[in-house]
Amino acid sequence: MEPHSLPLNEFPNLSLDPARLPRHVAIVMDGNGRWALKRGLNRCEGHRRGKDSVRAVVETANELGIQYLTLFAFSNENWQRPKGEVRFLMQLFYRYLITESKRLMKRDIRVIAIGEMSRLPGQVRRVLADTISRTASNRGMTVVLALSYGGRQDVVGAARRIAAAVAAGRVTPEQVDEAMVERELMTGGIPNPDLLIRTSGELRLSNFLLFQLAYTELYFTDTLWPDFREHDLLKAITAYQMRTRRFGMVNEGGLISLSAANQA
Ligand code: IPE
Ligand code: IPE
Ligand code: MG
Repeated sequence: MEPHSLPLNEFPNLSLDPARLPRHVAIVMDGNGRWALKRGLNRCEGHRRGKDSVRAVVETANELGIQYLTLFAFSNENWQRPKGEVRFLMQLFYRYLITESKRLMKRDIRVIAIGEMSRLPGQVRRVLADTISRTASNRGMTVVLALSYGGRQDVVGAARRIAAAVAAGRVTPEQVDEAMVERELMTGGIPNPDLLIRTSGELRLSNFLLFQLAYTELYFTDTLWPDFREHDLLKAITAYQMRTRRFGMVNEGGLISLSAANQA
């Protein structure tokens, strides 16, 4: 498929620069429950509808040429929700992976996952492992599913692995640096997000990628996740392109030019 063609033609009022796209977009997909409650529906109806937003955003991001899209689908803390809702969400993840598999393959999209997979029900784990292995050699966008994920737990895991390496004498404490910590995180090998989107009007990270978001541009919208579609993604990326990223330095090069330097 021709990159940048479809969505940009559909929304000519948004002026996106295809040369300065964020390489990695991360999304906290929030507001499903409120979307449903506003309509007098069960919270789970919001989750069900949110699946359509996932498809729209994944396919649009891929068409745009975004390289990595990380979706926060279920946090470590979300295990504390009512059992029925957790069970519904797990069934939804299962069905999503089954039904989207063909579409993902057709679009050459690779799927990987971060989080404590051992806590997921066996059925979800198996279909997830299957999707990951079947899409492993795809060359399009990488979708990173954050399932049972927590940023603090991610940092703790990295600290443990590094501590074990030090204890075993494989590395000295002086050799522990930012690059090593980054490699040991669940996102090891993936560039840090350039743009974080959170829907539903909440202004917090809720234990998402804590270390990785240090210099990410943050974008908050009141739109609830089930209403978030192609146009909303393009709007967020347009807003991103209006930002000046400085990374603590002095800006001389204009709008987000340093993100390009970061990507080099
Ligand atoms: C996000 O929507 C989905 C998950 C956290 C799994 P919520 O279920 O948090 O919806 P609100 O925030 O209650 O509206
Ligand atoms: C964050 O949303 C997690 C996901 C979107 C998966 P929450 O709805 O769980 O976050 P809080 O509770 O509002 O902080
Ligand atoms: Mg929420």
